[in-house]
Amino acid sequence: MKPLQITARISQRFQQATIRSKIIVLIMGTVLVALFLAGVALLVDDVLRERRRLVANVMGVAQVISSNSTAAVTFRDKNALNEILASLARRPNILMACVYDSSLKVLGSFTRPQALAFCPPSPSDQVYEFSWDNFTVSEPILLENTRIGTLLIISDLREMREAVLVHALITLFTIFLAALAAFWLSRRIEHFVSDPLHELARTARVISEKGDYSIRAEKASDAEMSLLIEAFNHMLARVEEQNQEHERLLQEAQNAVRVRDEFLSIASHELRTPLTSLRGGMELIHRLVDKDLISTYPRQRLLKLLATNDQEFTRFSRLVDDLLDVTRISSGHLTLRPELVDLKQVVHKVLRQLQTEINVSRSSIALDLKGREPGMWDRFRIEQVLLNLVSNAVKYGGGNAITIATRTDEDSAVISVQDHGIGISANDQINLFQRFARAASSRHFGGLGLGLYISRQIVEAHGGKIQISSSLGEGTTITVELPLRVAERDRGRDSA
Ligand SMILES: Nc1ncnc2c1ncn2[C@@H]1O[C@H](COP(=O)(O)OP(=O)(O)O)[C@@H](O)[C@H]1O
Ligand SMILES: [Mg+2]
Repeated sequence: MKPLQITARISQRFQQATIRSKIIVLIMGTVLVALFLAGVALLVDDVLRERRRLVANVMGVAQVISSNSTAAVTFRDKNALNEILASLARRPNILMACVYDSSLKVLGSFTRPQALAFCPPSPSDQVYEFSWDNFTVSEPILLENTRIGTLLIISDLREMREAVLVHALITLFTIFLAALAAFWLSRRIEHFVSDPLHELARTARVISEKGDYSIRAEKASDAEMSLLIEAFNHMLARVEEQNQEHERLLQEAQNAVRVRDEFLSIASHELRTPLTSLRGGMELIHRLVDKDLISTYPRQRLLKLLATNDQEFTRFSRLVDDLLDVTRISSGHLTLRPELVDLKQVVHKVLRQLQTEINVSRSSIALDLKGREPGMWDRFRIEQVLLNLVSNAVKYGGGNAITIATRTDEDSAVISVQDHGIGISANDQINLFQRFARAASSRHFGGLGLGLYISRQIVEAHGGKIQISSSLGEGTTITVELPLRVAERDRGRDSA
């Protein structure tokens, strides 16, 4: 494997390692490099110091021997010279000593048994010199400042090497101890860094397993981690918010679907009822004509049949009109055509239209029509509002008395329709002006739940307001307040 591949593999392994291992490797790496460099520096310093000590030591000896040898060299007294040199035997590091005269002839020598047997042919020119395994000193022998010979001493490096080796071992041992201490320390401190990360990872895992975004990571004490955890918690809060929003939208969508389905089933039932009745009437007439019995059929019954058919037809077209109005309102196409409208006329017209229903319900209608000032309104739409309110009063009024009151003041007209019927609970009143909202049981009362919604849209398009006051079982009063003149901006406004 090439060195490059090895480096790549090591860095890949390092990247894949846990944060815990990375921290330990980083601390240990840094400590070991620092200790190694410090150890090398100490060792170099040690070698230099030991060399200096050796040089000083051997040169001191050389100087003493050289000055002691002056007389023996002068008189070429080999015996005396050898005796002087023999004193070197007490210094175990000195392997050999040779004395040369000025013509480089060896006058005397000292050799240790294990060392070189012969003096080198000439002493070195250098004052001292290190070779791989020994150290040589050349000391001139002087007589009154004249060089009469040279003393050569060769010392081994054993002592110096031993000292350096001992120091190196001590240094190595210290490095080993320091590395152990660093390892122990790094194990103890790595969790300060890695614990918050593990905690964060644990929280993230729990959240993803449980899908519970209300869980939060615990705050960390150091700056970067607490920033990270803050950002993490912030993100969770956003996710939670979005989840809630999705939940809400889903609920809304489900509600809308439910309301639509309910509406479809009610609408089809509501539309079918007048159609069935109409069909029954038509079939009867068809049979009478077919069997040529029409002239013998009692005239009163025939007229009643036609009147019923007419009512059912009106009921059917009102339902269709309501549905069309809802579409108009949602698409913003409810336009007003204001003209002068006399409320009194409107009330009478509506009562005429509802005559049959009123008769069937047996409710008595009391009128309290004050105020003569006509308003600038869309006649057809105001009639529609009143028709809705009075038909509700008749439908839900339980046959009790109904009061229709109108009055006008300086710039507005107030119309109220009061009944003493089933009433509406406070809870149901909240949403009653919404599309398809119904409070009464659909088993007892038909209806699409559009009358109040459309009425409110019309009243508001005129710049007015509609209010409900009711209590369950006691009756209901609906009050409409209309400005006498539709403000310019409201005229033909798109009412959504
Ligand atoms: N005068 C009233 N008395 C009691 N309940 C009423 C009265 N007017 C309206 N409501 C309630 O309000 C609901 C909505 O009325 P409306 O929009 O006219 O729809 P619909 O009459 O077709 O049901 C009715 O279903 C009924 O429960
Ligand atoms: Mg109604």
